[in-house]
Amino acid sequence: MSAMDLDEIRARVDALRGRDLPTHGGRTLAYVYDSGVASADVIGREVLAAFSSTNGLDPTAFPSLLQMENDLVAMAGRLVDAPEGFAGVATSGGTESILLAVLAARDARPEIRSPRMVLPTTAHAAFHKAGHYFGVEPVVVDVDPETKRADPDAMRAAIDDDTVLVVASAPSYAHGVIDPVGPIAAAAAAAGVRCHVDACIGGWVLPHLRPDEPDQEPWTFAVAGVTSVSLDLHKYAYTPKGISILLHRSAALRRTHLFASARWPGYTMLNTTMQSTKSGGPVAAAWAVVNHIGADGYATLAGRARSATLELARAVEGIEHLSVAAEPDSTLLAVTADGRCDVFTISDELAARGWYAQPQMSFRDLPATLHLTLSAATADSIARLAADLAEATAAAVEVGPTAPPEELIVAASSVDPEHLDEETFAGLLAVAGLADGSGALALPERMAPINALLDALPPELREALLLGVLDRLTRPTPSGGPV
Ligand SMILES: Cc1ncc(COP(=O)(O)O)c(C=O)c1O
Repeated sequence: MSAMDLDEIRARVDALRGRDLPTHGGRTLAYVYDSGVASADVIGREVLAAFSSTNGLDPTAFPSLLQMENDLVAMAGRLVDAPEGFAGVATSGGTESILLAVLAARDARPEIRSPRMVLPTTAHAAFHKAGHYFGVEPVVVDVDPETKRADPDAMRAAIDDDTVLVVASAPSYAHGVIDPVGPIAAAAAAAGVRCHVDACIGGWVLPHLRPDEPDQEPWTFAVAGVTSVSLDLHKYAYTPKGISILLHRSAALRRTHLFASARWPGYTMLNTTMQSTKSGGPVAAAWAVVNHIGADGYATLAGRARSATLELARAVEGIEHLSVAAEPDSTLLAVTADGRCDVFTISDELAARGWYAQPQMSFRDLPATLHLTLSAATADSIARLAADLAEATAAAVEVGPTAPPEELIVAASSVDPEHLDEETFAGLLAVAGLADGSGALALPERMAPINALLDALPPELREALLLGVLDRLTRPTPSGGPV
């Protein structure tokens, strides 16, 4: 195929993007964060593009990146009460920050042969990924069924001689509540174990809310025993994607995730994070956006997102068949439905009304919920969102709770998640009506039946089936693509 001219590329890219969720406008209530401040988007994009070819691989080759990263680390440190002597790094996102926190904790205790970490059930899945990558066994402790906050006594009881890390969230993604970091960190410290606070989603919001909400649960380095904190810029700092900050109470605590290799004839590889070559774009863009919005700007944006969350929570309480899963401590809301309807159908009905709200599956005794991340740009539309949510719920009640066909549950339940082969998976897709004429995966417009089926299955089976879906989705374009 011949080379495309610029106009054709622009048209093709626009057409491709036409199928995506909107990143701006405040109607996508997961994945994206919209400040609604046009100038912040403009400067973020401009600087992202200007630095896209720079390389953070070598801080002496691109000192601009080192300076901007150190500035961002300093700003993040001020937000979370980091003490004298703290150290940090910019990573590619929350998951990488968490991976490094777990790696650093494991490698600080080489004498422990079977390392473990104590997590509340609500800790982000990134900790399970870290456990999987680095051989650190997650010890998962139930949260309080009412408040959805971690249970400090149960977490203390779960710490043993093999524990290298204890985790708390500020707030948790699934329910938007802040764990009782004080007693959790104290239990960790008493056992001589590190305590990581995952403030990936709340780190750039909660500190700005403190003046108006002085009773906020303490969760920063001001809490003795907290050894590391992660906070993402590409969430509520409203910067372009690809940047989070991981902070350690001291440079010594960070040391075990720094990496050097001189064991080859090329340059000595010297990294603070998992990436080696890394675009300077996200760091530079974040530096630009954070400095443009400024402390007062973030206070305003955080206040708007917080008021929107509380307004929506009160509206949800007024919608028959819905309730909030937990009183929100930040800017995230989880909504449950009573037995007359299900959150999966409500999610589909909201999508039909132009809103994306994320369905979350049940886990242990925690029911399925609808997740809404509220960013500043949604604040002016809460009345509209609440009205559409009420309508979506009424429509879901009309059809009743989604009941996946019994034979499908039986067929899916008979699968051994450890050994789900191509043939079995193809058979399941056919029974579920998810295969086109050629047997290829064909996802339906309405996801409720699939989500309800997955929700009825144990997590290991959900994982196996969804990995099958992912595997089918990520195959080369049949025609070989346009190039
Ligand atoms: C609390 C929390 N931790 C970790 C993450 C993972 O962040 P990322 O998707 O940037 O890897 C998220 C993402 O939403 C989060 O909310």
